[in-house]
Amino acid sequence: MDQAERAGRPHAELIPLRVLHVAAELYPWVKTGGLGDVIAALPSALSAEGADVRLCLPGFSTLLDAAREHEVARLATPFAVERVRIGLVELPGVHPPAYIVDHPAFFDRPGGPYGGPDGGEFADNHRRFALLGWVAAALAAGADPAWRPAIVHAHDWHAGLAPAYLRARGGAAKSIFTVHNLAYQGFFGADIFGELALPREFFAMEGVEFYGGVSFLKAGLYYADRLTTVSSTYATEIQTPRYGMNLDGLLRARSAVLSGILNGVDPEVWRPAAGGKAPAKAALQRRFGLAEDPSAPLFGAITRLTPQKGMDLLLAALPGLTGLGAQFVLLGTGDRGLEQGFASAAGREPGRVAAELGYDEDLSRLILAGADVIAVPSRFEPCGLTQLYALRFGALPLVRRTGGLADTVVDATPETLADGTATGFAFEDESAADLLAAAARAVALYRDQAAWRRMTRRATTRDFSWQAAARQYLALYRGLIG
Ligand code: ADP
Ligand code: GLC
Repeated sequence: MDQAERAGRPHAELIPLRVLHVAAELYPWVKTGGLGDVIAALPSALSAEGADVRLCLPGFSTLLDAAREHEVARLATPFAVERVRIGLVELPGVHPPAYIVDHPAFFDRPGGPYGGPDGGEFADNHRRFALLGWVAAALAAGADPAWRPAIVHAHDWHAGLAPAYLRARGGAAKSIFTVHNLAYQGFFGADIFGELALPREFFAMEGVEFYGGVSFLKAGLYYADRLTTVSSTYATEIQTPRYGMNLDGLLRARSAVLSGILNGVDPEVWRPAAGGKAPAKAALQRRFGLAEDPSAPLFGAITRLTPQKGMDLLLAALPGLTGLGAQFVLLGTGDRGLEQGFASAAGREPGRVAAELGYDEDLSRLILAGADVIAVPSRFEPCGLTQLYALRFGALPLVRRTGGLADTVVDATPETLADGTATGFAFEDESAADLLAAAARAVALYRDQAAWRRMTRRATTRDFSWQAAARQYLALYRGLIG
């Protein structure tokens, strides 16, 4: 019997590791993209591996309406005259308990998590998300006497100040910062620095300062003890000027603590309905008014319409694609010019091209189920979840070879077709011509139904498990605790 046992305490390694995940999104209540899916899946996968996980989320009304909260603290903060309530909620489903920053003046508004119904960003986002990071650091310092994390795991710029506040408090917990997308930086003018209640010396190149302003993303990258991103290839790419969004220098300087951990797929959430491809394809063609032709290869895309996603390349390749006998459906929203471009393309080729401009979870599943190919021609892609869902639904991904797309899709070549490892189609250049050449390879292969079936069978059995990701994060946590 050792000393700990004699004192009635378990071995240190038997005490579950307490980890607080700080983020702005949680599917199905708050989601603008893949971040919401990750926060819905990773924390519970960590719990399943034995960690003691809790979430820290902004008090959006959708979350507050989903469960009853009980108050654990009322904190005097630098951001409001009144105290800020911290509630603890048990959300329906397998989610770990969540601390909710219940401050209606900041979070109970019409619109999305980051901006109003008109599409513009909220003018006080720096205060809203500074409060989120500040509360995470306060929890690490013991704001809830019943539960205190050893690790704070912050996601994307919205939580980027958590590691800075932790440092300012003298390191109440170790921190990990995960980059889901380097393109969203939480960049504000220098004048807001005074509102953040950080030590004055943090406004420096060795700190939160970035090109004369304040970057929440850089705060996370600079102050966190460990950095991760959501695929190995993206972890390498962001250390180069082409993909580094002006942060590649800092990322190279911190490369010793930076690693890539691939996202997973929750097989319960992304489960194709029984019945197979043919009826789903017919239903999809009907829903979008496409010719009900089972033999036309049906390409689909489900995406935010931003420069990242490369949908301008696809729009340019569209006449060539339909020229090959293919059909195309888009579900997407964002850039007005692209929305118009796809709407006009649909008008020009009714029965062959269709577009639904909006955000619709059910429709996204219909497209995954019915399409033969899902196009993800991104200029950069930290991980990408759409191609992983497509694989599960037996829709073969057509991707640009970058980031997580490069790590998860095996291009169909004579070799990979022969050894049975092919799962999709990849192209290299950011060009419509390269995209179209890969699409033409897909169409040609589609005409060989035996080969196509082999590939889709392979695709649907690929395993991107959250358990594998959770184990890698746990190893990182353990390394930090020592
Ligand atoms: P990102 O987070 O960069 O948008 P991901 O591929 O990681 O890219 O995740 C996107 C998520 O958002 C997926 O779950 C995808 O199905 C979903 N999605 C994107 N656009 C739409 C849309 N218009 N309607 C429904 N779901 C969408
Ligand atoms: C970001 C990235 C996407 C990734 C998602 C979840 O939104 O753009 O590639 O899959 O985060 O990590």
